[in-house]
Amino acid sequence: MSPTPWWRDAVIYQIYPRSFCDDSGDGVGDLAGIIRNLDHLAWLGVDALWLSPIYRSPMADFGYDVADHCDVDPLFGDLALADQLIEEAHARGIRVLLDFVPNHTSAEHPWFVAARSSVDDPHRDWYVWRDPAADGGPPNAWVAAFDRDAPAWTLDAESGQYYLHLFLPEQPDLDWNHPAVELAQHDVLRFWLERGVDGFRADVVHLIGKDPALPDDPRDHARESRVGFHFEPDRLLPLLRGLRRTVDAYDHTDTALPGERMIVGEVNLADDEQIVACYDEGRGLHLAFNFALLRSPFDADVWRRTIADLHAVYDPVDAWPTWVLSNHDEPRHRTRYGGRESRARVAATLLLTLRGTPFLYAGEELGLEDAPVDADEALDPGGRDGCRAPIPWQPGGRRGWAGIPWLPWPPDPDDRSVAVERDDRDSVLWLYRRLLEARRASPALRRGSLRLLDAPSGVLAYERACEEDRRVVVLSTAAEPVTLPLEGAWRLEVASDGRGRGMPFDGLIEPERALLLVPAADA
Ligand code: GLC
Repeated sequence: MSPTPWWRDAVIYQIYPRSFCDDSGDGVGDLAGIIRNLDHLAWLGVDALWLSPIYRSPMADFGYDVADHCDVDPLFGDLALADQLIEEAHARGIRVLLDFVPNHTSAEHPWFVAARSSVDDPHRDWYVWRDPAADGGPPNAWVAAFDRDAPAWTLDAESGQYYLHLFLPEQPDLDWNHPAVELAQHDVLRFWLERGVDGFRADVVHLIGKDPALPDDPRDHARESRVGFHFEPDRLLPLLRGLRRTVDAYDHTDTALPGERMIVGEVNLADDEQIVACYDEGRGLHLAFNFALLRSPFDADVWRRTIADLHAVYDPVDAWPTWVLSNHDEPRHRTRYGGRESRARVAATLLLTLRGTPFLYAGEELGLEDAPVDADEALDPGGRDGCRAPIPWQPGGRRGWAGIPWLPWPPDPDDRSVAVERDDRDSVLWLYRRLLEARRASPALRRGSLRLLDAPSGVLAYERACEEDRRVVVLSTAAEPVTLPLEGAWRLEVASDGRGRGMPFDGLIEPERALLLVPAADA
């Protein structure tokens, strides 16, 4: 492995394909729509794309219910288009990660159709079947995500047994205790690695290790979603090591962009120690998400504690952090911050200057807010339609979409469109572009150390350093201007509001503003 694998240096951009750009005219985004906009993503300056699932699916969970892992859903295109996308992205120096959904399949997947057909079917124990409890009810107290009142079990009337699903009944859980399941899922990875993908985002991967006794936890009885706390390292870690071995076997093969393949795991846990355990000292996941920022309020003091706590756990074992503000499962950060663009700009500056790999969610670079979606028009069983609103590419008309989008537009779709923001150098889009450019040019920002600096409440300041290269980031969530004397002379490289670039830093940080500073001597 080279000293700095690409995924430590990269900024990864999440595309929710249904919502990105529609080329075919059916109102659902597709691969051709992504290919058409690759030049824009290269202009923006991202290093890799992660595509939410593109596989054949009945779409009960909009693709996270996979019915054929080795084919593209016709809504999105076909395998030839997937190949073309990988090739064209690589030609622009952009890597491609696919979503890998190991924990469950669609109930329409041939594996489950076979499993359900008979208790004697060879696929039966690929899934988690149990007899009813003594009272005829579900085998344990686990509840499903999305609908906390529903058990994570559905009774199959024919066989009289229940099957487990930590999400929808349409998403039966696979049983990774069965070696054939592990082999089959590794074949899925190989299928796509052979096609040239650079890696995977592994969906709720912490759930695949399960004690066959399926013991209850007090939190199951409190009707908490198991997704947020299920963690059985003795079962999980050997499986993660296996996934890593399969992916690492493809390192340095003959692709347009040689280098390591990787897995970033969606370890949907809040405990830093548990997340880091999944890296398993370089034997497990290459990266794991941590959702600390996504779950934090707009508050410099909370961010400071979060960063300090995280580094205290990650650094001693050289686990490389990841940072996420928004994704397809949660309200966008601008929406969470009460719609204030100034706050979204501050948070973006934070995200792109921390130590670790940042993940952007398509549309955040436009400063998009969630679309309001009335309950009677909701499509997603998890209530997540708002953050999945379509990306507006042009002002007016269908805003660059061939058909009428499957979800309503986000607020201000004309002013927030890519074309309008590209023409406005003060836009959020240009802020992201500048931050990405600054990051690319600075070893300190990409891989340097991070040292928190003393600062008054409401202000966060840190220094990034790599050999001679240094940057300081100062940001404020306070309501009043705050004075922050810094050692040495600094000037503004990027300001979240676009003002004052190149000017000396005068020691005053205004409310809801963030500054990326370079030593004045570097001017
Ligand atoms: C992950 C995905 C989410 C999906 C769930 C089930 O949390 O991000 O969108 O619904 O897993 O696959």
